[in-house]
Amino acid sequence: MVEGVGGTADAIAAIGLDFADERVEASVSRVLAEVESELRRNVVSADPLVTEAARHLLEAGGKRFRPLLVALGAQFGDPEAPQVVPAAVVMELTHLATLYHDDVMDEAPVRRGTPSANSRWSNSVAILVGDYLFARAADIAADLGTEAVRLQARTFSRLVHGQIAETVGPRGDVDPVAHYLDVIAEKTGSLIATSARFGGMFGGAPAAYTEALAGYGETIGMAFQLSDDLLDIASESVQSGKTPGTDLREGVPTLPVLYALASDDRDAASMRLREILAQGPVTDDALHAEALGLLRESPALKRARETVRSYAEEARAQLSPLPDAAPRRALEALCDFIADRTG
Ligand code: IPE
Ligand code: IPE
Ligand code: MG
Ligand code: MG
Repeated sequence: MVEGVGGTADAIAAIGLDFADERVEASVSRVLAEVESELRRNVVSADPLVTEAARHLLEAGGKRFRPLLVALGAQFGDPEAPQVVPAAVVMELTHLATLYHDDVMDEAPVRRGTPSANSRWSNSVAILVGDYLFARAADIAADLGTEAVRLQARTFSRLVHGQIAETVGPRGDVDPVAHYLDVIAEKTGSLIATSARFGGMFGGAPAAYTEALAGYGETIGMAFQLSDDLLDIASESVQSGKTPGTDLREGVPTLPVLYALASDDRDAASMRLREILAQGPVTDDALHAEALGLLRESPALKRARETVRSYAEEARAQLSPLPDAAPRRALEALCDFIADRTG
């Protein structure tokens, strides 16, 4: 399955989610279609460069995973409620803004199958367009009320703290794996949790359902990030729309790398892998290719896949307060999608 590339803006098609229920599928599709036209309408600026640079990644595609969670969360109330679409737009614009900034931080050349804004224009343009997108998100959130603005701000604050914690790394006395799991909860779980929460909230679902949705969102968000990290090692760029091995090159120690570094396997491949990884960012092309090859075959990668599965299972268990009907089946299917997308 090709993900997030080729200009598809249909989250259902991009993910290949099997809803097993026509009514839920039609309702989610309608929300996502409206989100799409609202997104396009909302990134326009009086400055042609800002408009062009803001449209650049929006129109390049993406899975629209956060709007999908808003739309699915809303199924536990009234998905036709007028605030559901703007809530989803706020989440995707916030996400989009973080992608512009993240590619500057990670010096990533490619995003959504197209040159990143920093490589197409410059770091300054990417940062400022990211800021503009945050401003647009805040503007739309204002129409949803104080609570939405506060939640968006707090979510964004958590996300930023995750990015900072990733940048700074664990303190000497902190277990690197525990630190990394905290990082991904903050940088990715936060926004996906709020997306699911917004769905429940603005669909008018009972408070207990909304809380369950937020808990599920946080955990599935962690599984989603972990599976993305695995794809950075295991996939080709056509599949991810990004440059494989970017984390390794930038010295972002994701779970497979942390597991490899912590292992005491004495076979030649594991020892050689640890030797390369211990040096930090792997920038030399030959060493990078060697490390990527060793990681792809490593027990550490297998173990990281099992961790993804365990988070996906935990997310599934967090759905138990929700009514046992079609919308819950769709959220369960999302757990399968995440667990399976890394092989
Ligand atoms: C990329 O998010 C950053 C992560 C949190 C892994 P997505 O994988 O949702 O990116 P798009 O929106 O589909 O491009
Ligand atoms: C994604 O970080 C999290 C945010 C954008 C906040 P990554 O750096 O892991 O994501 P990719 O791999 O570039 O999409
Ligand atoms: Mg990145
Ligand atoms: Mg990053």
